[in-house]
Amino acid sequence: MNIMSKIVGMGSSVPKKRLTNFDLEKMVDTSDEWIFTRTGVKERRIADPGTTVAELAAPAAIDALKMAGVDSKELDLIICATSTPDMMFPSTACAIQALIGAAECPAFDLLAACSGFVYSLSVADQFIRSGSSKTVLLVASEIYSKMINWEDRGTCVLFGDGSAAIVLQANNNSEGVLGSEIHSDGKFGSFIKAGGMPKRHNFSSEPQVEADYFVVMKGSHTFKVAVKKMTDVSLSLLEKLTISPAEIDLIIPHQANERIMKAVAKSLNVDEGKVFNNIAGYGNTSAASIPLAMTEAYMANRINKGDLVLTVAFGGGLTWGANLIRF
Ligand code: ACO
Repeated sequence: MNIMSKIVGMGSSVPKKRLTNFDLEKMVDTSDEWIFTRTGVKERRIADPGTTVAELAAPAAIDALKMAGVDSKELDLIICATSTPDMMFPSTACAIQALIGAAECPAFDLLAACSGFVYSLSVADQFIRSGSSKTVLLVASEIYSKMINWEDRGTCVLFGDGSAAIVLQANNNSEGVLGSEIHSDGKFGSFIKAGGMPKRHNFSSEPQVEADYFVVMKGSHTFKVAVKKMTDVSLSLLEKLTISPAEIDLIIPHQANERIMKAVAKSLNVDEGKVFNNIAGYGNTSAASIPLAMTEAYMANRINKGDLVLTVAFGGGLTWGANLIRF
């Protein structure tokens, strides 16, 4: 009997502060009309300056554990998908471990930008299938607002802060992650980048070069590659699993741009109504966007027992990937 990774708990947590398109009109040369028609975003959440990525994540993790009926001491692995950690170390996963009172299980961060969730789900699934782990907490938490240049209208209108978590458990009832496929291509790293470390070497006498800290993006280049790669990886994964796009009950794509989601649905020949979209309220929350949407879809009864759900993402790296899940 095959061991599979079943999603037994979900939770999400977003900051209270809302930043609307109308607020942004007062900050940069933009308009609600431009932002909404080009991206689908109406507002995004912004974390308080004192909040850490782990603190934002802890309530999501606690809710997911509660739904799963799992005590944090039972966890045997914690993975945190983030590209906005507060520190290089301790990892955000270790900080979350301390906040939720988990025992001495392994905990590490995984960085794949907006593909962080699909990558982490693929990795967590390998731990479970191999028998190394039985109960895994996967958290995705991002505070992009600290890495955004709030004077750059090309990026500041897109991103928001948020966290979401799932609990996975080993199961042999043919429910759970049916398969995953992940890719990257570093040649296109310059399409989206952020968070450069200071380049000065302590032993060198070179003057310190300013860190390339803010998010920069070649938007229209990224758009075209995103649509193609998200379509290709979805079709490739479905073909491997001998499932046709018509059999999918719900697609939960990375929430980067409503037009990207619609274009992917069209390329897959799937009705737009089968694509879950909550981008209007949150913008692009990077790794957190898929589990945030999944939690919302589940709470709204858009995911039912037995449903086939495809998650697909694209992000900086460039990275991309997909997971197919039987609920
Ligand atoms: N308000 C008003 N005008 C704007 C704004 C704004 N906020 N931003 C850009 N413009 C202008 C540009 O200056 C340009 O003006 P010009 O024609 O005079 O030069 C015009 O609007 C069109 O700009 P484009 O960049 O071509 O607009 P596009 O339709 O491509 O939309 C967007 C831009 C929304 C960024 C889109 O390209 C996109 O969503 N790209 C993909 C993003 C993505 O998928 N990212 C992946 C994940 S991110 C991660 O991993 C961290």
